[in-house]
Amino acid sequence: MHPDGERILLSEETIRARVAELGAEISRDYAGKELLAVSILKGAAIFLADLVRCITVPAFFDFVAISSYGSSAKSSGAVRILKDLDCNIGGRHVLIVEDIVDSGLTLNYLADSLNFRDPASLRICTLLDKPSRREVPVNIHYNGFVIPDEFVVGYGLDYNERYRNLPYIMTLRPQIYEEA
Ligand code: PRP
Repeated sequence: MHPDGERILLSEETIRARVAELGAEISRDYAGKELLAVSILKGAAIFLADLVRCITVPAFFDFVAISSYGSSAKSSGAVRILKDLDCNIGGRHVLIVEDIVDSGLTLNYLADSLNFRDPASLRICTLLDKPSRREVPVNIHYNGFVIPDEFVVGYGLDYNERYRNLPYIMTLRPQIYEEA
């Protein structure tokens, strides 16, 4: 394990197996349809890349970039789109692919704003769910793992942009973020 880690929460094998299960479930549910996976930069890119390779129906993908809310904006739930989708989602089957749902503010906002564009359907797939931190409701259709309220990094998740490339998910030693 990386020396900044406290313990491995989800091993590479555990993640791979669950991603394959999610891909199979999504492939069954969308049989006969084309899927447009929409991911939020940057953390979800790793999960998206693995997930779409486990999906057997035609799968397109696109990305949005969203501003992280400052502490004052957080209570209002205000989130801003910095980079919008390249494609039109009207009439398409859209699956939002996210790495983690924490407060829910990001996904609540994105789902609302995409719904305005009249997709044929809109669902949410997240690798990780931290329900103990939820501030606004999010309707998650596909959920990889429910995790406790701990600081986790790896497999796309960062601390100050580090650790995204780790193939597993680990908890971070408190000294690492307390020193900062
Ligand atoms: C993380 C994660 C989600 C969001 C979840 O992104 O990827 O988009 O936070 O938090 P919420 O449920 O409280 O809104 P982050 O802002 O860390 O950006 P990143 O993906 O570039 O790491």
